[in-house]
Amino acid sequence: MRPFKEIKANYYFTKEDESRLNELRPLMEKRVDKVVGALYQWIIQTESVKKVFKNESLINHVMRLVKSWFIALFAGRYDNYFYDSLIRIGQKHERVGVDPHFMTRAMNIIRNACVDIIYEEIEKDREKYIISINKILDINLDIITSSYLEEEIKGYSPAYKIRFQLVRYVEIFSQFVSLVLIFALSILTFAVIYLCGKDIYQILSGKLEQTIITALGSVLILWVMLELLNTEIAHLRGGKFRISVFIGVALVTVIRETMIATLKHETIEFIISLIAAILIIGIVYWLVKKTEEEKR
Ligand code: HEM
Repeated sequence: MRPFKEIKANYYFTKEDESRLNELRPLMEKRVDKVVGALYQWIIQTESVKKVFKNESLINHVMRLVKSWFIALFAGRYDNYFYDSLIRIGQKHERVGVDPHFMTRAMNIIRNACVDIIYEEIEKDREKYIISINKILDINLDIITSSYLEEEIKGYSPAYKIRFQLVRYVEIFSQFVSLVLIFALSILTFAVIYLCGKDIYQILSGKLEQTIITALGSVLILWVMLELLNTEIAHLRGGKFRISVFIGVALVTVIRETMIATLKHETIEFIISLIAAILIIGIVYWLVKKTEEEKR
């Protein structure tokens, strides 16, 4: 399977699409029965589709699942959990024998129902909303169908099955390492909070002049640590990895060191070397940040 980030990029699925879909959430929640109703009508009127279900209660059960899936489409969260849920739908469909053609037709019915709703309820920027809906439905169909095919190939190719298992284990391991990293960052953030507390205590106990700058530096580090934690959490959810935050930590640490060195009246050579380090890290930070923003 292609990574989720790559799939979203191929469909030009942007932050604007995400917020537009999220804006539609209350409307789609209100009209979800129209969408599921259209799908239900098609199922009970098409003999070959009806045959897939053992009984009427299984149709109703699947309609409830479709309802939750449809509402989640407008939740504004398109992360790894969302991606995994789509993969599971494809795998389940393969196991119960839902032909991919039926899935394509079902998506077509859902798309038509959404377009009807937009025309009935929205006057301004309809095209933009329809484009965003089309993108998310295409992405869904793409992932569900790909995971269906992958599941099918696994059935007759042992080599592919082994490769798939290997990739899966590496993915799980990588997620575990990310969690450990978040845990370690949380501990370090507590250590920086302690550092800030110590500085503030010294300010209160009279050493105002020397400590106020050190405290400022510690607060700066705390702020960057929080940014680092948020970046790691976003990465775990399938967001982009921002290397600039790590360079930011280095930059802020050297700035703090310079502040302390000035207060301690360290040698001029040492202070110049710190300023040179700030300049170099600053340039690297600016270049990396610029590249990240261009890629967005
Ligand atoms: C957009 C369309 C659809 C969505 C979002 C959808 C979603 C789902 C979900 C979430 C599940 C449960 C997966 C799991 O247990 O992990 C499921 C199962 C199932 N789906 Fe679909 N489905 C769709 C279309 C269809 C169609 C067109 C059919 C039949 C032709 C179908 C037949 C089934 C069946 C038989 C199951 C197994 C139910 C069970 O045994 O529990 N689905 N589907």
